[in-house]
Amino acid sequence: MVGAGAGADRMLLFYCRVGFEADCVAELSAAAAMAGAHGRWEYRTGEALVLWWPAAGGGRRREWTPDFGELVFSRQMLTQARLLEVPAPLERLPAIVAAIRQMGRRFCVVWLEAPDADAARQLLAGARGLIESLREALGTAGVTSGRGPRLHVCLLDRHRIVLGTSEPGNSSPWPMGIPRLRYPAGAPSRSGLKLLEALMLFIGEDDLPGRMRAGRVAIDLGASPGGWSQVLAARGVRVVAVDNGPIAPEVMATQLVEHRREDAFRFRPELPVDWMVCDVVAAPARIAALVAQWVARRWCRETIFNLKLPGKDRWREVQRCHDVIERVLVRADGDHVLRFKHLYHDRDEVTGHLRRL
Ligand SMILES: C[S@@+](CC[C@H](N)C(=O)[O-])C[C@H]1O[C@@H](n2cnc3c(N)ncnc32)[C@H](O)[C@@H]1O
Repeated sequence: MVGAGAGADRMLLFYCRVGFEADCVAELSAAAAMAGAHGRWEYRTGEALVLWWPAAGGGRRREWTPDFGELVFSRQMLTQARLLEVPAPLERLPAIVAAIRQMGRRFCVVWLEAPDADAARQLLAGARGLIESLREALGTAGVTSGRGPRLHVCLLDRHRIVLGTSEPGNSSPWPMGIPRLRYPAGAPSRSGLKLLEALMLFIGEDDLPGRMRAGRVAIDLGASPGGWSQVLAARGVRVVAVDNGPIAPEVMATQLVEHRREDAFRFRPELPVDWMVCDVVAAPARIAALVAQWVARRWCRETIFNLKLPGKDRWREVQRCHDVIERVLVRADGDHVLRFKHLYHDRDEVTGHLRRL
């Protein structure tokens, strides 16, 4: 894959999870159609990336750049991306530096990356020396001394490299869109990483200490074995963990978690709470209706929830759940924000955030 686009030499590049390339394209095609942008998509299942070549002569429309915050299946978006062919690995460094200098811009940082697929990841692991040499060469040339956008150097294979940029305000803050999160000590499941990533992404480090802190109350629906409850308790939040399954002793030992063996779909809080989180395995539309009810009836102020997706038409399923929630909330007073993201720690699922304003 990856050839020159008909007429255009700049493209957009999107990283996604392996196997989700078609979902990424389905979503981006809808966004392009809404924006009236014309171009051509290029992807191959298993390569964990999608390219958009704008149509030649499209005028202003050629400059279409989606709002990254609204995209579900893209982990990262590179703009002004161009393909560089390097015949021999030894020529790689001088060729990259020359091409970057030709861009005639300054950048705040350079990131060496690869799509999150096996072969490309191995290539990146074997190119550790390259990033040091690249940083040194670009620093000496004064290319990375500016504020400007980020510069991405993406290794596709031994001979093909994509150079692209990203604006900090319209992209993921993490290289390759992958947050490096520390696994909580003594965690009963890896699932807590999903909630940690969702909190970083949807709430952010600046707002999190105010919105999730000691004294706040959360309901954790589908809590067993307790990974999400543990993440909440680590922030001092009191948690009611609802699940017929057990909660791990180390989570109960925080003394902030109360276990209720009840059905998540029937459970009601005695008083309104700050947070409800939901990781129940059930039909996505059923979870969507549940979380919408919690916010519309003011049982909670905000919620993070996971939707287990079907094997195909996953973008359509996310849209369906979005519509289910919006239909309920349109009848409720006040504004709200609703976002979905296919997180790095999500597999065949996406995570949502719904908040009453
Ligand atoms: C993916 S696991 C949750 C993992 C948990 N978030 C963690 O971090 O450890 C899904 C859980 O949902 C629970 N569950 C499924 N249907 C439920 C229901 N109707 N009511 C309550 N819990 C339910 C299951 O028992 C299971 O423990």
